[in-house]
Amino acid sequence: MIEIKNLQKVYDVKRRQSFFHMTREKVVAVKDISMRIDKGQIVGLLGINGAGKTTTIKMLTTLIEPTNGTYSFDGIDAIANPDLVKRQINMIAGGERMIYWRLTAYENLWYYGQLYGIDNTLLKKRIEKLLQIVGLEDKADLPVETYSKGMKQRLQIARGLINDPKYIFLDEPTIGLDAVVTQDLHKEIRSLAKDQGKGILLTSHYLSEVEELCDYIYLVNKGELVIEGTKKELTDYVFARNRYVFSVRGMDKKIVCRLRDNLRMIDPESEVLFEDGSCTIISKAELSSAIAEFALKEKLVINELHKQEPSLEQAVIKLSKNLERKDTQIA
Ligand SMILES: Nc1ncnc2c1ncn2[C@@H]1O[C@H](COP(=O)(O)OP(=O)(O)OP(=O)(O)O)[C@@H](O)[C@H]1O
Ligand SMILES: [Mg+2]
Repeated sequence: MIEIKNLQKVYDVKRRQSFFHMTREKVVAVKDISMRIDKGQIVGLLGINGAGKTTTIKMLTTLIEPTNGTYSFDGIDAIANPDLVKRQINMIAGGERMIYWRLTAYENLWYYGQLYGIDNTLLKKRIEKLLQIVGLEDKADLPVETYSKGMKQRLQIARGLINDPKYIFLDEPTIGLDAVVTQDLHKEIRSLAKDQGKGILLTSHYLSEVEELCDYIYLVNKGELVIEGTKKELTDYVFARNRYVFSVRGMDKKIVCRLRDNLRMIDPESEVLFEDGSCTIISKAELSSAIAEFALKEKLVINELHKQEPSLEQAVIKLSKNLERKDTQIA
């Protein structure tokens, strides 16, 4: 298990005031983040641009040292033993960094394998297997500069798995990829966690991706944790109300008014919104049977009646908007 407690990172930056004059200032990239990643689990790290996600990942991959806080890796103090940790983790970032364009896929993987000091026979076998997993075995001997974006990203994945890491950090791994490659990658990520028991931390701006893959989610803003939980816990927290979609044949304003009166007897605060021939009903009370009974009593033919599950995307947008509002209020 990876456990971080009260992690903080303050960068010391130089700001150019004029051609000859620079001043120093502190940038608090991560203020206070605590989280854990268990083996076999996919954990999502969400937040708007500049929230501190990449900085957190850089600290977890020991690329930079935290200013404050603790980080333990399977019980080992990771800050005091970065070399030990480095061997057992890896990072896959979206984009085209960390691969050498003039080298072939095979040569890139061989180079990185050598850096980890993997035995040559084992390395050869591992490269062959990884090339097969990411579907690059036919292109293995072509220089990377001839690859498409998706192929380069597949190579990134193979590179990130070259040391058979226990924990993998994925920083926007599907950025700029098409739907087919993304779907394959999702399958691979899920299998790494569920079949091979690897612990995975994923950051992404594609909320549907986080929703689909992550068992547990942390939402950060300005370097601080805003909320954490499963997708259901997060959406339940943000939308503490039920939403129903209801439509009947020949639905009109009169029916909607009667429905509204009817439902308000159960929940006086319930809302019935009528748009494009269909109703959205928002209520604290559970209303599905009351809506169905209303339709029955009025001898209406139901076209649609279902409870709408709010998406993670809606929850994050709502939370972020609330945070923005809070900020402007304080200012
Ligand atoms: N090397 C650095 N030196 C100084 N400030 C930095 C450095 N790297 C990041 N920052 C600052 O730290 C804050 C967090 O940046 P970070 O890259 O961690 O955000 P992020 O959540 O990954 O954003 P994005 O979604 O845009 O990738 C930002 O204000 C950024 O300007
Ligand atoms: Mg980032």
